[in-house]
Amino acid sequence: MNRILKRRQLTPEIVLLEVTAPRVARRWKPGNFIIIRPTPESERIPLTIVDGDAGKGSITMVVQAIGKTTMQTAALREGDAIPDLAGPLGEPATVERVGHVLAVGGGVGVAELLPVAGAFRRAGNYVTAICGARNAGLRILQEGLAAATDETLWATDDGSAGFHGNVVELMQAWKPATPPGLIHAIGPIPMMRAVASLTREWGVRTYASLNPVMIDGTGMCGGCRVTVGGKVRFACVEGPEFDAHEVDFDELARRNRAYADKEKEAREAHPCRIGLG
Ligand code: FAD
Ligand code: FES
Ligand code: MG
Repeated sequence: MNRILKRRQLTPEIVLLEVTAPRVARRWKPGNFIIIRPTPESERIPLTIVDGDAGKGSITMVVQAIGKTTMQTAALREGDAIPDLAGPLGEPATVERVGHVLAVGGGVGVAELLPVAGAFRRAGNYVTAICGARNAGLRILQEGLAAATDETLWATDDGSAGFHGNVVELMQAWKPATPPGLIHAIGPIPMMRAVASLTREWGVRTYASLNPVMIDGTGMCGGCRVTVGGKVRFACVEGPEFDAHEVDFDELARRNRAYADKEKEAREAHPCRIGLG
């Protein structure tokens, strides 16, 4: 069950895993995610479905090791099995034919951008992707993006590849005379907030794929509560994508930091306790 068929280290922190999951592979759509427990004792974490092969019965995900559970996930090897894997979860991304679509991704968010950008292109749009990384070596999925989009532009914080700056600065430098018909954004919260504020000025409909803390992924626990247009929404069943111009990003940032002390404790205790039960 859910055996790891392929593991590829994309950057020192980011790993790609292809996993056997035939039912998910048959039903997933771009924008869906799964919830896994990498070991029987782990907490549950959500990860985007980056690709799925119904014939082979496998799905692909990309995980950035930032805390205890993502580190446990990234430590899995080919042949290991993931004990719990549920999905596909969430609503698929909004994909319409509008002519020109801009897909904006930062950091590991680029993993979600890839299938969504591909879906926009298959729907008949001209797709520009603007992606960001801290430096050239930390860019991920470049080949996939080049194949899935009409143009992919990179921004790096240190200028070691592409535009010197962040994705929002690149968007400002790039803005064509006729703005795109729709924008899809995913990445760190400050990035999505800045994209939303810029595209509000541009007057372009923008969707952001949000990353609140998720626990059960079924709309029962309330962990993923977000406020959109003044209304409470549950990102695991009604999202993760919402109208970026209506999202309360301050609340999202606050809620995502709620367990920071416990997460630090777990992360620091993790390397010496792994394997000792
Ligand atoms: P911790 O040290 O426990 O937490 C670090 C930070 O991650 C926290 O401060 C909090 O902001 C966030 N976080 C913690 N627990 C959760 C949780 N249960 N759910 C969501 N966020 C949490 N990451 C990827 O690397 N690849 C992906 O494809 C990906 N897709 C995601 C899709 C969705 C719909 C969501 C909501 C998140 C996604 N994430 C993805 C983020 C990933 O789930 C978190 O990085 C992970 O849960 C952190 O767990 P941890 O124990 O390693 O880190
Ligand atoms: Fe529990 Fe969404 S994760 S309600
Ligand atoms: Mg954790």
